[in-house]
Parts: sequence; structure tokens; C-alpha cells
Amino acid sequence: MIGLGRFSHFHLKCLRQLANVKLVAVAELSETTRLETAEEWGCAGYASWQEMIDTERLDVVIVLTPEMHHAEPTLAALQAGCHVFVEKPIALTEQDAERMIETAKQNNRLLMVGHVLRFDPRMLAARQAVQQGELGKVRSIYSRRNNPSRYFSLYERTNLMYILGIHDIDLQRWMTGAEVVEVFARSSSSTGNGPDLIWAMLTFSDGTIGVIENNWLISKQSPAEMDVRMEIVGEEGIIHFQDPDQSLVFWNGHGVTHRASYIWNEAYDSYAGYIFEEMKHFYQCVRDNTPSPILLPEDAKEAVRVAEAIILSSQTGQPVRLAP
Ligand SMILES: NC(=O)c1ccc[n+]([C@@H]2O[C@H](COP(=O)([O-])OP(=O)(O)OC[C@H]3O[C@@H](n4cnc5c(N)ncnc54)[C@H](O)[C@@H]3O)[C@@H](O)[C@H]2O)c1
Repeated sequence: MIGLGRFSHFHLKCLRQLANVKLVAVAELSETTRLETAEEWGCAGYASWQEMIDTERLDVVIVLTPEMHHAEPTLAALQAGCHVFVEKPIALTEQDAERMIETAKQNNRLLMVGHVLRFDPRMLAARQAVQQGELGKVRSIYSRRNNPSRYFSLYERTNLMYILGIHDIDLQRWMTGAEVVEVFARSSSSTGNGPDLIWAMLTFSDGTIGVIENNWLISKQSPAEMDVRMEIVGEEGIIHFQDPDQSLVFWNGHGVTHRASYIWNEAYDSYAGYIFEEMKHFYQCVRDNTPSPILLPEDAKEAVRVAEAIILSSQTGQPVRLAP
């Protein structure tokens, strides 16, 4: 495992209950984290991922570095003969994503990208309804993914379209089965540095209009950490999705809070949730040595191509057409 930051905790918990998977080495720049994890897991700890890949005999490498550092360790691991799971976004440019996909093919290794929401049973149910024609012809999809301001100092390293919006681009393509042909976007910033808010309008090849709203503006005082919505409007039906939903609500002296989460559930010593399903699927594909029909790296690359176009549009103020 390369990179032991915030999100690695979920991956480590998954590993605890995945049969026949052993963590043999970690690479992390922070010495304290590296040593603590190596000791807890009884595995080797490296400051350099290159040294880890050169020294250890690994079947799989999980890449959890910051978004702008996905490509290099992924390429090195694939070239060393490892299967790779890399967190989203696959990379920050279409060219890097293409190099990663080509290298996986040349080395006959699996490359999977963490578009985890494809394992959310609610998203699966919505997609099934769309595909079975329950909504008639889909005309528009609106996606909101607004996250807490307290994480902005960590994630302002990367345009929010690559961190938050990448999920929504992927979901909208996955729901419609159509390609994005044009985008138009506006963004703004509360710090004067990178944007902490973006709105994008997408035109799909089948005429569906997509809208994506992302920001890092959910304040500490808000009743929930995040505000995620999706509305799929068809000529014969509509789907409304809201996360957190209202199924678990706490009232106390601090106010009203919502904490239900489907990404991760713990029951006694057992973990469940859609990240666990995703990792289970990844290791099954590795064991079977078959590419995933769910997490295709080409889809991850296309999401990055659309994200790049949205960011360009937000910077130039002009619509951007995507080459077919
Ligand atoms: N699927 C999701 O919903 C989801 C949610 C959060 C984060 N993520 C993704 O997971 C990835 C990791 O995010 P995070 O939140 O854990 O970030 P983070 O900044 O908390 O963690 C990154 C870690 O990588 C380490 N690192 C950086 N360069 C390194 C190098 N050269 N060698 C070894 N270690 C290195 C850092 O020291 C840090 O501990 C990102 O791509 C992020 O976008 C996905």
C-alpha cells in the first residue's frame, strides 16, 4: 500500500477481513505513520515506493497517494508485474491515464480505479430503473456533492472537480450510457486561491442535460458532514436521491445531526459498505485474473477528460466541446 493518509484507514479495515490477502509492505513519507502501521500490521515500511516495489515480491499494489502522484507509482508497479488498484481520479490528465492503461495492457496486469459509488446499492437501483426504462427517456440529471469546509485545506491541492465532481461525472455517464459532448462551467473561490465551488452543465450525446454542483462549504455547525443529491428526470418518471437520508437522526444539546453512511458500516467486529464491496470485487478479479466489468480504467480516463474540459471552461468562461 502506497500512501497512508485519511482514506487509507478504510482500505486497511477492508484488508482486515478479506480472506487470503496479506499486507506485506507499506510506503509512506511520514515516518511516524509508516512505523506505526508497519508495527501494527507486522509488515515492512518504506519511505520510498520505488524501493518497496524493487525489494518486495508483491502481487498487488494499492495506490493512495495524493491525486497528482497517482501515475508514477502506478506505472512502476505495473511494470514490476503487479496488479494495481488506484484511488480516483486515475490521474489529472488524459495523457497520464492513457499511459497507465497502455502499461497495464503491455504487462498483462489489472488496473482498477476507485469509482466506489458504482458499488452503492442505491445508485445500482437507480441505474437499473433507468436501464429498464422505468423513467422513459431520461432528459436531465442533477448531481450535488458538497463537502465540509474543514477538509478544504487538505484537498485544495487539487481542483475540486477531480476530487468531488469526478464521482458525479462517472455516475452521470454510467446512468445515461452516453458520452459528454460539451461542457460549460463557472467556479468561485473564498480564499482567492483555488476554487472551492463549481457548477458545471454537461450535454450528453443522447441529448441528456447534466448539472453538477460541488463545493467545500459545509460548515462545522451543519447537521451533516456532507450534502449529496441526485435527481434523474425522465419523461415518465423521476428518481430523487439524498445522502444523508433521514433514516437516522440524532437530537441532542448540540442540535440535530445526521450520521448514517453507506460507505462504511460497522457491526461488532465486522465491516460492510460499498468500499468493502469494491475491494472484495478487486481481489476477486485479481484471483480470477479477469478485468472488472464494473471498474473499467477507460471509464476513469473518460471522467478525467471531462473534468479537464470542465476546469478549462471554468477558467476561460467559454463552453468546451469534447472531441468524439
Ligand atoms: N473514493 C473516495 O470517496 C475517496 C475519498 C477520499 C479520498 N480519496 C482519494 O484517495 C487518495 C488519497 O487521499 P487521502 O484523503 O488519503 O489523502 P491524504 O493526503 O490524507 O493521504 C495521502 C498520503 O500519501 C502520502 N504520500 C504522498 N506522497 C507519497 C509518496 N511519494 N510515497 C509514499 N507516500 C506518499 C502522504 O504522506 C499522505 O499520508 C486520493 O487520490 C483521494 O482523492 C477517495
